[in-house]
Amino acid sequence: MKLLHLDSSALGANSVTRELSAAVAARWQEAHPGLTVEYRDLDSNPIPHLTGRSLAQADAAEAADAAAVMDQFLSADVVVIGAPFYNFGIPSTLKAWIDRVAVAGKTFKYDENGPKGLAGGKRVVVVSGRGGIYGDSSPADFQEAYLRHVFGFLGITDIEIVRAEGVAYSDQHRADALAAARASLPEPLRAAA
Ligand SMILES: Cc1cc2nc3c(=O)[nH]c(=O)nc-3n(C[C@H](O)[C@H](O)[C@H](O)COP(=O)(O)O)c2cc1C
Repeated sequence: MKLLHLDSSALGANSVTRELSAAVAARWQEAHPGLTVEYRDLDSNPIPHLTGRSLAQADAAEAADAAAVMDQFLSADVVVIGAPFYNFGIPSTLKAWIDRVAVAGKTFKYDENGPKGLAGGKRVVVVSGRGGIYGDSSPADFQEAYLRHVFGFLGITDIEIVRAEGVAYSDQHRADALAAARASLPEPLRAAA
């Protein structure tokens, strides 16, 4: 069983999502001692923006990294994603990763019936950190709603959100939000896949 752990916060040690995504990954490791964990820090080890040169595979090193990113995603049973709320959406570093895993013919396809996700069967845990308070259905939410949509498009139906929000309101808000998020961590699967 393999868990892929991604972080994308630019706030280093002050990051809410880094703290919580590490807690989620640790819970999974406790539940499954033989679990393989692969980690990528998309902030310190970013994936280049997808450009025409990327699509043309003009840079061999970039193409090799893109192939590795796809293989890593496809082979993961669980994907834990630290996803801060930046400017109403996700960090561009995380979007750059999504641009490498949302690939026609690999993780989705179109046929005469429309789009079909090809990456089903995984569990995705989105760790959401938000300075403000947006709840479940704000029209300003292009972060969680986007991630739910894009992974759903890829065929993944098992998507859970761990959320700490209002963290910019005050130190107390931040501490309370972190405690509530820790108390809400989803249970790891009991049986290894
Ligand atoms: C570049 C940047 C943009 C942000 N934009 C927003 C925003 O649009 N709305 C909001 O509520 N908080 C915003 N915040 C606050 C973050 O959502 C908050 O710091 C949260 O903790 C981010 O997760 P992190 O701590 O893991 O980075 C922003 C923070 C940064 C650094």
